[in-house]
Amino acid sequence: MYANLLLLHKITVSLFLLFYLIRLIGLLGNISAIQSMFTKKPVRILVDMVISTIFLITGVWMLLNIPGSLIGTLLIIKIGLVFLSIPLAIIGFKKNKKGIAVVAVALVLGAYGLGEMNKKRPAVNESMVRTSVTANELFVASNCALCHGVEGKQPNTAIGAIDLTKSKISDDEISKRITNGKNNMPGYKKRLSEEQVKMLTEYVKSLRN
Ligand code: HEC
Repeated sequence: MYANLLLLHKITVSLFLLFYLIRLIGLLGNISAIQSMFTKKPVRILVDMVISTIFLITGVWMLLNIPGSLIGTLLIIKIGLVFLSIPLAIIGFKKNKKGIAVVAVALVLGAYGLGEMNKKRPAVNESMVRTSVTANELFVASNCALCHGVEGKQPNTAIGAIDLTKSKISDDEISKRITNGKNNMPGYKKRLSEEQVKMLTEYVKSLRN
């Protein structure tokens, strides 16, 4: 369920961005074929209503299900940029104001970039990560428990987290998942040392019953 929502979110965001870039090219280059395409009703309904509604609803739904303490500054700025871009895009494109349309599209692009950056910067409790001695402390300090639950068995299924006691993947795959992340699981490459990833890999395995 969640993986599908995330996929839908990514597809609609990409389409939205693509259509806005095309529309911007039409506006900036005074290409009437493109401009008139976007005034046609079916295209307007698809882009302005269907696509943008799906991407906003899936985005808000995910946001509401992410543990509050994991909502970092980057994510908040990202959402701010998206909501700022919408009225600007409406004004820019409807009134043919090129500068405003450029700013609107730049904001959406910026939000997209921030989303990508955010994935690579999982929130951890840094001082606690430094002083963690046991793997369990490290699991908590790295906020693993916020998504996977205490001892990995109360996953936040709304965002697609997995019950680690039922996980069957290999050691290598566990390490890779912690390092690189996947879907809504952030990658810890920049936040944890190789040693710490190894410790967590052993810990994740030890949770299985
Ligand atoms: C923001 C929530 C979140 C945090 C924080 C998080 N995870 Fe995950 N984790 C997920 C999600 C979502 C998946 C499922 C990814 C997928 O396959 O779509 C996952 C999958 C995994 C898997 C793969 C399980 C399997 O069988 O496929 C492992 C192992 C794992 N997480 C360990 C950890 C560890 C260790 C930490 C802390 C260093 C951690 N996770 C932090 C959300 C999170």
